[in-house]
Amino acid sequence: MTHSLVQFTYVVATALFVFSLHWMNDPKTARRGVFAGVAAMLLAVIATWIQPEVVHHGWIIVAIIAGFVVGIPLSMVPLTAVPQRTALSHAFGGLAAGLVGTAKYYLWLGEGGAELTAFRMTAIIAEILLGFLTFTGSLMAAGKLQELKWIPQRPVTYPGQNVTNIGLLIVAAVIGIMLIVSPTAAWAPKLFPVVIGLALVFGVLLIIPIGGADMPTVISILNSYAGLSAVAMGFVLDNKLLITAGALDGSSGLILSIIMCRAMNRSFANVLFGAFGQVQTAKQLGEGKVYKPETIEGASQVLEQANLVVIIPGYGMAVAQAQHKVRELYDQLKKRGVTVKFAIHPVAGRMPGHMNVLLAEADIPYTDLVEMGDINPDMPQCDVALVVGANDVVNPVARYDKTSPIYGMPIIDADKAKTVYAIKRSKNPGFAGIDNELYFSDKTWMLFGDAKKVIGDLVKQLTDSGGIH
Ligand code: TAP
Repeated sequence: MTHSLVQFTYVVATALFVFSLHWMNDPKTARRGVFAGVAAMLLAVIATWIQPEVVHHGWIIVAIIAGFVVGIPLSMVPLTAVPQRTALSHAFGGLAAGLVGTAKYYLWLGEGGAELTAFRMTAIIAEILLGFLTFTGSLMAAGKLQELKWIPQRPVTYPGQNVTNIGLLIVAAVIGIMLIVSPTAAWAPKLFPVVIGLALVFGVLLIIPIGGADMPTVISILNSYAGLSAVAMGFVLDNKLLITAGALDGSSGLILSIIMCRAMNRSFANVLFGAFGQVQTAKQLGEGKVYKPETIEGASQVLEQANLVVIIPGYGMAVAQAQHKVRELYDQLKKRGVTVKFAIHPVAGRMPGHMNVLLAEADIPYTDLVEMGDINPDMPQCDVALVVGANDVVNPVARYDKTSPIYGMPIIDADKAKTVYAIKRSKNPGFAGIDNELYFSDKTWMLFGDAKKVIGDLVKQLTDSGGIH
């Protein structure tokens, strides 16, 4: 009876996980998606807990309390820290899978080893390899994103790096195969920790050649590994929900990293082995070119007389936390009958949906958030393109300069607007480390300063001028 109830609850939880992911596709249903995910996880925990095989209820309570103690502070991190927070969650998931695999191996070995079939051993080896490499890899990724001083932000590369990494993985895999073939041999319990050690080291080595800003893509790949280790754990524990939930986790992580790579026109191999951010291949356009600064008064006059203003937010808006000021500017312009749209590039900022989340936080109607592909045809009719801390995602060089690291990345056609105002603090480049041709164009005017301050000044100017035309 309990068995059927548990299996039925697992099916309901799996369905809720699937719907949760589906509802996340749209801002209108995203909130429902979150609730469905929480409900699914709750059902999963309860259904697992009520099984008669569970004898140590005390330990489960301790684990739940520990989860709350770690989880509640993690839920309070600022939005800009969400990528590293996510990496930490994957680290915990990977560690859990690795520890369960290890415990199961030694438990079954202690019982004589009859349970250690080739199938189970294959699952255990996959679980510990993926779990432990996800653990250290995710910790490194979180540390890089948090810009911890003792972890180098720049990609660390050395000759023969890829050969070393792949060699290490091959050694771990060979020992793994030996363990699968002879799990109860006298040497087996001694070699098992070697696989764990190699996986832990591999996780670190995998991440050090990758630049801090490429981490969101890598985190998504690590998410996929964590999911696959959960699938392996499901096979070890004979738990169908772990298999389905892990598969959903693994595939969604993989799909997300593919979407991110595509939007940046990069390949997986390039993200993992390309040491992006280190080598500057594109020619520097900046030398000898002149930026034309504009005043707040001048910009606000042009803005209030426009018919269509397209705001293009980027990473700088997140850094400045300027979204609420942007909302005030949006209100001021709307009051004057100006049509205001937001152009959303899929990789603007540093995490998927970064701009959508910030703008939603400021209660900007999502009907005014327009995806890159839909806004670009309207850009020639746009009177003012207001670039708020975006750089690479509006760099026209991506269209034609084959030597540029962003060549081929689709961009928002800000340069096709009649006038461009660009807000940034300095002449420094963006994530890709290259100058932006847009800023030197005849129709572009710079508003130098912190985005929150500049937009705030624009709002003040518009409020003071008050004139509704
Ligand atoms: P970036 O190219 O990184 O440019 C951001 C700009 O914001 C910088 O030029 C910076 O100039 C400015 N800025 C920083 N702080 C500011 C502040 N407080 N006030 C005003 N401006 C500020 O950003 P983007 O255009 O959003 O492009 C995103 C890049 O990240 C792409 O290259 C993309 O491939 C990469 N990436 C994205 C993701 C995801 S999933 N979104 C993942 C990995 C990588 P100053 O320093 O002069 O102010």
